[in-house]
Amino acid sequence: VMRARVLGVGGYLPARVLTNEDLSKMVDTSDEWIQERTGIRERRIAAPDELTSTLGLHAARAALANAGIDAQEVDLIILATSTPDETFPASATKIQAALGITRGAAFDLQAVCAGFVFALSTADNFLKSGQFRTALVIGAETFSRILDWKDRGTCVLFGDGAGAMVLRAEAGAGTNADIGVLSTHLFSDGRHHDALYVDGGVSSTQTAGHLRMEGKEVFRHAVVKLADSVTEALTANGLTADDIDWLVPHQANARIIIGTARKMGLPMDRVVMTVDRHGNTSAASIPLALAEAAADGRIQPGQVVLVEAIGGGLSWGSALIRW
Ligand code: ACO
Repeated sequence: VMRARVLGVGGYLPARVLTNEDLSKMVDTSDEWIQERTGIRERRIAAPDELTSTLGLHAARAALANAGIDAQEVDLIILATSTPDETFPASATKIQAALGITRGAAFDLQAVCAGFVFALSTADNFLKSGQFRTALVIGAETFSRILDWKDRGTCVLFGDGAGAMVLRAEAGAGTNADIGVLSTHLFSDGRHHDALYVDGGVSSTQTAGHLRMEGKEVFRHAVVKLADSVTEALTANGLTADDIDWLVPHQANARIIIGTARKMGLPMDRVVMTVDRHGNTSAASIPLALAEAAADGRIQPGQVVLVEAIGGGLSWGSALIRW
């Protein structure tokens, strides 16, 4: 049995901090409202010359350094993003070129806030099948470029950033004691398009458009669907919530995270939270949180890490990793 083992993780955040106080001068909102409803205190905003591929490249370099491997060893790059530099080619190929890699494949994958879980699952299946050996899975976003900065219901929620993970195919025993990705679980239900979408695009308006969201509707689906996907991950591996060392959820909103942990019966001291400082960075939020918790020593080798996310589509999923 082949397993995709995590060799390293890394993250990158743009320098510019946008606080709730700053936002209260742009739209009719307050630090108190944003913190109470979302847990967000501040988020980062990319500089005008920083594109999604720029952020992704920084995160990729950090992950490669953390893994202690040369970029030339990478033969698969998957970039999860909903905010690519250009309509085509895939921004992943720009990152590939910037890393000096000329072999293997690089492509983008689009599952909005669930993008990292979908990309991780895709890489896991490629590595297990033997088609590729060393994968770089990146989540990078510049959501600041698709926000309606006049809509207080959405512009306060998101931030820019990137995170990355390096994985390598290695032999395992096929049990839940293996090191590496134990299983991944993906779901979509396109009937919920209107809950969260961008009102533009190449084929529809030939403009990038702006993010539109029915917040209450997304919230309602999120806690139920995340709990279901987490239960499926635990059941598939014969594990219970007690076996989880760290829940590293997509960072959309502290209330969704707390609600999911409560449903699992998991204490909050085993949940990694970055939403207070990062806001919702969509596909970047999980690898950014993993990078933070690995760097500060919370996540230790051999521990079981559960990641989960939901976003536009709706698309959602989970993955269990033994670190
Ligand atoms: N500041 C002040 N008031 C605001 C703001 C704001 N930024 N935004 C909305 N309001 C007002 C509304 O206008 C409304 O006023 P009204 O009662 O006078 O009409 C009031 O606050 C309540 O608005 P609701 O939308 O009902 O507020 P709710 O309690 O649902 O909170 C929120 C909104 C935070 C968006 C919540 O629905 C939520 O967290 N939803 C989940 C959405 C999410 O996380 N999306 C991220 C993308 S998807 C993902 O990544 C999972």
